[in-house]
Amino acid sequence: MVKICCIGAGYVGGPTMAVIALKCPDIEVVVVDIAEPRINAWNSDHLPIYEPGLDEVVKECRGRNLFFSTDVEKHVCEADIVFVSVNTPTKTQGLGAGKAADLTYWESAARMIADVSKSDKIVVEKSTVPVKTAEAIERILTHNNKGINFNILSNPEFLAEGTAIKDLFNPDRVLIGGRETPEGLKAIEALKDVYAHWVPVDRILCTNLWSAELSKLAANAFLAQRISSVNAMSALCEATGADVSQVSHAIGTDSRIGPKFLGASVGFGGSCFQKDILNLVYICECNGLPEVANYWKQVVKVNDYQKNRFVNRVVSSMFNTVSTKKIAILGFAFKADTGDTRETPAIDVCKGLLGDKARLSIYDPQVPESQITRDLSMKKYDWDHPAHLQPYSPTCIKEVQVVSDAYQAVKDAHGICILTEWDEFKNLDYQKVYDNMQKPAFIFDGRNVVDVKKLREIGFIVYSIGKPL
Ligand code: NAD
Ligand code: UGA
Repeated sequence: MVKICCIGAGYVGGPTMAVIALKCPDIEVVVVDIAEPRINAWNSDHLPIYEPGLDEVVKECRGRNLFFSTDVEKHVCEADIVFVSVNTPTKTQGLGAGKAADLTYWESAARMIADVSKSDKIVVEKSTVPVKTAEAIERILTHNNKGINFNILSNPEFLAEGTAIKDLFNPDRVLIGGRETPEGLKAIEALKDVYAHWVPVDRILCTNLWSAELSKLAANAFLAQRISSVNAMSALCEATGADVSQVSHAIGTDSRIGPKFLGASVGFGGSCFQKDILNLVYICECNGLPEVANYWKQVVKVNDYQKNRFVNRVVSSMFNTVSTKKIAILGFAFKADTGDTRETPAIDVCKGLLGDKARLSIYDPQVPESQITRDLSMKKYDWDHPAHLQPYSPTCIKEVQVVSDAYQAVKDAHGICILTEWDEFKNLDYQKVYDNMQKPAFIFDGRNVVDVKKLREIGFIVYSIGKPL
C-alpha cells in the first residue's frame, strides 16, 4: 500500500488529502500538523474549516484510509510521498518584508523530513512558493548526506474556497512539475498515478519544476488582475452612468475574454491573491524586471483603491460623517460559502469606518465573534503566522458589536454595508429592514446582490458598485 503523509492540515491539506483518500482506497493518507487544536478538530464532528461537502468526504474515509495526527515525524518517516502544504505568508520583517514569501515554515518542514527519513521519498510542494524554491528545498533535503534519494515535485493547488470539494473532484487541470531526469520522470509518473484514480489523464499536465511553480503565481495574478480590471471599470461606470454588470456581460460574451471572474466588488480578499502577487512582484524586482514588477503591483493597488473608495462613498453619502452612527455590516468572510476571513475586504472597510468613529454591528453566518474581534485587532500580515492558531485574548473594541442575526444587526442602523454575497442577504425582507432603520436609510452593496430598483421603491438610498446612482 502506498503511504502518503501531508504536512499542514489547513484549507488545502485537509480537503485535498480527504479527496485523495476517498478516491484512492488503496492509499493510506495521514495529515499531520503541529497545531494540536486543528488536528483535534479534524478528528471531531466539528471540522476546523467550513467547506460545503467536506464533512461527508471526511466521514466516509476517516479511520479507514484517512488519518489526522500530531505525530509528524513518525508519519513522515513511514511515507512514500510527502506533501508539504504549510502556510507561506508574506514576510513581516527583514529583507523583502511586505512582499517576499516567508519560507520559514517550509524550511523547517524540509529540515525535519531530511532528519527523520530512513527511506527514499517523493516530496511534493503543495504550498504556493516562489519560483526556484525547489532548488533550495533540494539542498535542504540533502544537507545531511544520508544517502537517501529525495525527488521533489511541484504540484500547486488550484482549488477555491467555498467550492474546494467540487474543484478537487473535477479539476480543470492537475499540474505536476519535476526534474527532467529518469528519476524525476519516474516521480512524476508516481504522482500522476495517484490523480489518475479520478482525473482524466489529459487533464494532468506535466512540466518542468520552474514552469509549475511559476504557473501557480501566474494563475492567481491573472485571476486577480481580472477583478482589478473590472473594479477599475466600476469607478468609471459610476462617473459616467454606465452599468458595470452590463459592461461585464458585454465584454464577457467575447469568447476570447469569457464571462468568469468579471464580477465587480468591494475588492478581492482571501489568503492568496494579494500574497502571491506581492511575491511575484518581489521575484520580478529580484530578477531586475522593475517594469514587470510595477505592472503586477498595480493589481494590488487598484484593489486597495477599491476598498478605500467604498469607505469614502459610505462616509461622503452619509453627510460626510459616520461618527456615532450605527452601521450594520452584513457579511465578514472574504467570499460566500466559507468562514475564512483572511485578507477579507471587510477588515479594511470596518477599520476605515471605525477610523471615522462609526459604531458597527456585524453579522456573518459563518464567522464567530472571536474571529471578527481578532481580525479587527490584529496587525496587517500577522494573521498568517502560527500565532493565529494559538489561544488569543482579543481586545474588545467598544464600538463593535457582533450579532447572530441580520435583522438584529440592522435594527436602528443608519446604514448597511453588504460585504459578502451570502444568499440570505439577497432574500431579506427589506421592507421590514427599512421599517426598523433610522431615516434616511442607506444601503451600500459591496457585492451587487440586492435589487436596486425594488429597494429604491421601498425608500432606501442605494449605492451599488459600478451602477448609476
Ligand atoms: P493554512 O494556514 O490553513 O494551513 C497551513 C497549516 O500548516 C497550519 O495548520 C499550520 O499549523 C501548519 N504548519 C505550519 N508549519 C508546520 C510544520 N513545520 N509542521 C507541521 N505543520 C505545519 O494554509 P492553507 O490555506 O492551507 O494554505 C497552505 C498553502 O497552500 C499556502 O502556500 C497557500 O498559498 C496555498 N494555497 C492555498 C489555497 C487556499 O484556498 N487556502 C489554495 C491554493 C493554494
Ligand atoms: C483563489 C483562486 O480562485 C484559486 O484558483 C486558488 O487556488 C486560490 O485563490 C489560492 O491560491 O488560494 P479563493 O481565494 O479561495 O481562490 O477564492 P476566489 O473565488 O478566487 O475569490 C477570491 C476573491 O475574489 C474573493 O474575495 C471574491 O469575492 C473575489 N471575486 C471573485 C470578485 O471580487 N469578483 C469575481 O468576479 C470573483
